[in-house]
Amino acid sequence: MQAKNLNREEITMNNDYWVKLDRKYRAQVRKTRSIVLEKGKGVEVWDVEGKKYLDFESGQMAMATGHSHPAVLKRIREQIELLMQNSIRVLNIPRVLLSKKLSEIVPDPLAKSFFLSTGSESVEASLRLAKKYTGRFEVVSLLRGYHGRTAGSQSYTSNSRGARTGYGPLLPGSAFIPAPYCYRCAFNETLPCNLSCLSYAEDVIDRTTSGQPAAMLIEIMQGVGGTIVPPADWVRRLRQICNEREMLLIIDESLTGMGRTGKWFGFEHYGIVPDILTTSKALGQGVPVAAVITTDDIAERAVANGFDQGATHMGDSFQCAVALANIEVIERENLLAKSISMGALLKKGLEDLQTKFEIVGDVRGKGLFLGMEIIESRASRRPDPDRTIKLVTECEDRGLLLGGGIPTGGLGTNTVRLCPPLVITEEQVGIALNIIEDVLPKI
Ligand SMILES: Cc1ncc(COP(=O)(O)O)c(C=O)c1O
Repeated sequence: MQAKNLNREEITMNNDYWVKLDRKYRAQVRKTRSIVLEKGKGVEVWDVEGKKYLDFESGQMAMATGHSHPAVLKRIREQIELLMQNSIRVLNIPRVLLSKKLSEIVPDPLAKSFFLSTGSESVEASLRLAKKYTGRFEVVSLLRGYHGRTAGSQSYTSNSRGARTGYGPLLPGSAFIPAPYCYRCAFNETLPCNLSCLSYAEDVIDRTTSGQPAAMLIEIMQGVGGTIVPPADWVRRLRQICNEREMLLIIDESLTGMGRTGKWFGFEHYGIVPDILTTSKALGQGVPVAAVITTDDIAERAVANGFDQGATHMGDSFQCAVALANIEVIERENLLAKSISMGALLKKGLEDLQTKFEIVGDVRGKGLFLGMEIIESRASRRPDPDRTIKLVTECEDRGLLLGGGIPTGGLGTNTVRLCPPLVITEEQVGIALNIIEDVLPKI
């Protein structure tokens, strides 16, 4: 596009120009920062004025193998020349190979997958699958959870106050149980604890549902709700609660999948396996592709019960070829190990900042899925959303893009998310920590 009276140089050199145009023509359904990005490479991105940033949000948490990875770009170019898409009534080779590859990287009994485009869509499909398999319809999910913005996925979403206001009734048959938010335990317990939250959860399930819902839908580690990592005992007991009521356990790993936490999937840290697993974002490395992965038994019985899923982009050759290339990069470059080692380095640095600065309340996470709470003081532990916004904005000015500081209530309003691409180097971790350390005393 060439705007009137402006040559290309004038256009690309100025963030402000594009921001104004955006405000004029785009419905502002989501507030944005005044940064207009033009290109990226690895962990770094550049705005149209040539300013460089370290991208600690990994795009929208999708660029696990880094921006413009040469092997992924090569595969994109090859596949564009071959075949982008086909009718869902026929097959393509990348789709078959991607489902085979996923069955190799997930633990048994997970074995079969099908594909969609987005996280919300995969959550919707997982719920439809669970309902057809069980013949039931109720679903239990966690307070503070985020599963998307379609009607079904939003019905089980409660990441912020007010997010459900004004949209009319959502799906009936939904129950919410407390999140395992140990830093602010609703039952005033400290670790190791009695898991009172799960005793309460059982009461909620048995008193507010039929007692046998179709499924329990959770993020294994809550992302938008504030980087909340559950204790192992909580996860194991939750799995038991599902088994006792014959509810399927659906784990939504839109954010935590594909190596983000140091394993292919976050649930692998806990020695349990879900009945249905969904993943998206980093699966496609910027190309929208999502997977629903389940057991042979569930896949076959649900289909026998009439389960049918259709969507225009349901495993396009292009989507699946890119996902395959991306998985190959994660394997070849040993990025699961890198997520653990770089994650440990970053976490240690943040913990050092926590000891130095009162306003750093909690540092938590696994691998390169890390969060840091900003509080008023150690004594009160009161969340400090204003300072969180200041921290994120100041870091941005100094060339570090962090997740968080969202006035609408995401990330628990006072959690800063630090999730760089898994290809990050020690030097880049150091640069980011220095910026944060420099900013913390000034906010
Ligand atoms: C855990 C989780 N599930 C689902 C979604 C929705 O994914 P999408 O925005 O691709 O629909 C998100 C998005 O952030 C997410 O974090």
